Amino acid sequence: MDAAENNYRVEECMRVPAASIVFDDADIKEALGLIESSLRSGQLTLGPHGRQFEESFGKRCGRKHAVAVSSGTSAIEIVLRTLGVEGREVIVPDNTFFATAAAVQHAGGIPVFADAVRDTLAISVDDVLARVTPKTAGVVVVHIGGIVSPELPRLEAECRARGLFLLCDAAHAHGATLDGRDASDWGIASTYSFYPTKVMTSGEGGMIVTDDDTIAETARVFRDQGKAGFTSNFHTQLGANWRLSDIHAALGIVQLRRLDEFIAKRRAVASSYVDAIAREGLLELPGGQHVDESNFYKFVAYLPDGVERAPLKQAMREQFEVGLSGEVYEFPLHRQPVFEAFSSGNFPGADDVCARQVCLPVSARMTPADATYVVESLARLIPTGVTA
Ligand SMILES: Cc1ncc(COP(=O)(O)O)c(C=O)c1O
Repeated sequence: MDAAENNYRVEECMRVPAASIVFDDADIKEALGLIESSLRSGQLTLGPHGRQFEESFGKRCGRKHAVAVSSGTSAIEIVLRTLGVEGREVIVPDNTFFATAAAVQHAGGIPVFADAVRDTLAISVDDVLARVTPKTAGVVVVHIGGIVSPELPRLEAECRARGLFLLCDAAHAHGATLDGRDASDWGIASTYSFYPTKVMTSGEGGMIVTDDDTIAETARVFRDQGKAGFTSNFHTQLGANWRLSDIHAALGIVQLRRLDEFIAKRRAVASSYVDAIAREGLLELPGGQHVDESNFYKFVAYLPDGVERAPLKQAMREQFEVGLSGEVYEFPLHRQPVFEAFSSGNFPGADDVCARQVCLPVSARMTPADATYVVESLARLIPTGVTA
């Protein structure tokens, strides 16, 4: 057993693990049935399950097209390639996962970081506008932790006025909304990840959703080695193997049916957190994290001054069997060695958001009572300054 597997098992044995994947018996039976049909038909990739997953996911988002791909990372790179960013600047959040900026580089663009806003953890529109140059091709936003920023409509309007594209990296935002509109309602396209930690998973996988016919058509070419057609060997784009197998799509089909239920359960947990935190007067919550709009991929809170995150996490684990999940994110991109060449300037918002946040456990397995237990456990540690 390797270290990662061991950690996973230890985590699963905790009273409240940081995250849990939900495949109940009926889901497993259905997934196995779909996988069996792939094995019997021999259509293991770009087959009927992939098409069904695309159709259902596109419909769920309310978008005209959905293109299934191998990961959330390849989804971003493919859209950027369809938009043509070579030699151009693309503004991305400083507070995001490595893949958002790496995809820009892989597509031949130059990532430019913009600072974060404390209330939503999202990219600051004012800072984006300050960083626009004649070389800017567009902007990528990320709905951090499942929060769709209320600044998004303004950013979209500002981008349109300047002829810049707006792409939404919605890796965290399956089913999240802003003013009741699906997260994918903004931008030229949205990209999703189905990595196992996400609100829904296909094991590995990603999806591009868009109303733009050209992006969808070109993305289908890029994902299959840049081939003009499935059966041809005529390559029109510098694509790669970014296909989603039908085995993965089968898992995605089954999980997508449960998405609304998963989100409802996560919101019930979040609601319980909000009440308990208010009762205990413990933590500050981001003002933009709303119980009826976020999908609660993460439940984010800010620690009071003087409370250190690492010993708090350790004490929660050891004394209360509670796993505080990974941050979104621990280090902003300008502090990642790999992006040193793009890291000039100050990012006080992102530094603050990354340093002061703590993510409370949330999953569709948790109950509101679990959330109360987590906050009551925190209440026993935080006032004492948390010594592990
Ligand atoms: C914001 C963000 N973008 C992109 C990705 C990449 O997704 P994947 O792991 O499916 O490649 C992730 C993954 O965790 C993410 O959090």
